[in-house]
Amino acid sequence: MTTAAATAFTARYGGSPDGVWAAPGRINLIGEHTDYNEGFVMPAALPHTTQVAARRREDGVVRLFSAQGDAEVAELALDALAPGSVPGWAAYPAGVFWALIEAGHVLGGADLAFSSDVPTGAGLSSSAALECATAIALDDLFGLGLDAPARALVAQRAENAFVGVPCGALDQMASSCCVAGHAHFLDTRTLTGRQVPLDLPAVGLTLLVIDTKVKHDLGDGAYAGLRAGCERAAALLGVQALRDIPIAELGTAEAQLPAELRPLLRHVVTEDQRVLDTVAALDAGEPRALGPILTAGHASLRDDYRVSCPETDLAVSAANAAGALGARMMGGGFGGSVLALVDTGLLETVERAVHAAFAEAGFGAPQTFTATPSQGAHRVA
Ligand code: GLA
Repeated sequence: MTTAAATAFTARYGGSPDGVWAAPGRINLIGEHTDYNEGFVMPAALPHTTQVAARRREDGVVRLFSAQGDAEVAELALDALAPGSVPGWAAYPAGVFWALIEAGHVLGGADLAFSSDVPTGAGLSSSAALECATAIALDDLFGLGLDAPARALVAQRAENAFVGVPCGALDQMASSCCVAGHAHFLDTRTLTGRQVPLDLPAVGLTLLVIDTKVKHDLGDGAYAGLRAGCERAAALLGVQALRDIPIAELGTAEAQLPAELRPLLRHVVTEDQRVLDTVAALDAGEPRALGPILTAGHASLRDDYRVSCPETDLAVSAANAAGALGARMMGGGFGGSVLALVDTGLLETVERAVHAAFAEAGFGAPQTFTATPSQGAHRVA
């Protein structure tokens, strides 16, 4: 099979790759800012992927090229890789090499060429796709024998310790482990969960993604600050993580916290409950019940966690006013994408309404597309 990544590989390095692998971006049905609180999440993989064509080397040299990048090949020495040593996008794949070596695996070098159609900076985990594609390629190339969750943890380690973003496991677990036609209900404390069938088109429903085009950057301090606030709240409450506060004890727990930490606790505890409610609704064959859960999740992220922005708020309100069953922002926040649950027959009406509302508000045009739950990281050729 000829892929864009294989074509880029041959143009850059000559010859053929040993293989081509792909890892997807993700949506998250519900469960936002719960992963670093050891709580629940429920992502599904997008059909959009980062592909990597790769070939082993034996000399400890790593070459990285991206068809969407600046036309430069980054050339690195495996034994010189250190956190902070690689600038730009190449830090993500380089970090995966570093994290595998740190975990005791023996790697040679490799030539890698990437091509991606995952929107970047859109809250759809383009970074995780890049990391997880690298992880599965290296696993196969060097016969490491890792399973999908192990590859996800290596990818998360790369992002945390090499790139320096203190993210939880949501994005990498989604990109590595999701199964087509399903949402992945995951307990991020135990990394156990199950694949929940999600065939919304069969019941006349569609998941609409609205990319507001407002770029977020998880590297800035806001995300780290929220995470630190949650950790401080957990310490004050004497629990390992906020996930340990049962919803029935929310009021009592809130009263023990300083005012600025109460909304963080409220969001995390109610959001974990919304994940459980979502699983229960899908198990009961009531997917329409997801609508109000999504919208309640957005209100919590807007009013308590305070990570929404005018564009995501408008996308949610315009979609709902036009007949969506519910909608919410996804990902870290401060921009990025909104997910709306829509009767398939109303799809165009909702899309038109969102575009019109953005134009009227003087915002740049958003991009909309439908999301079909797709396959996690896999070999393509
Ligand atoms: C980003 C992070 C994830 C998660 C989400 C919020 O996507 O990478 O680990 O914390 O934000 O749910």
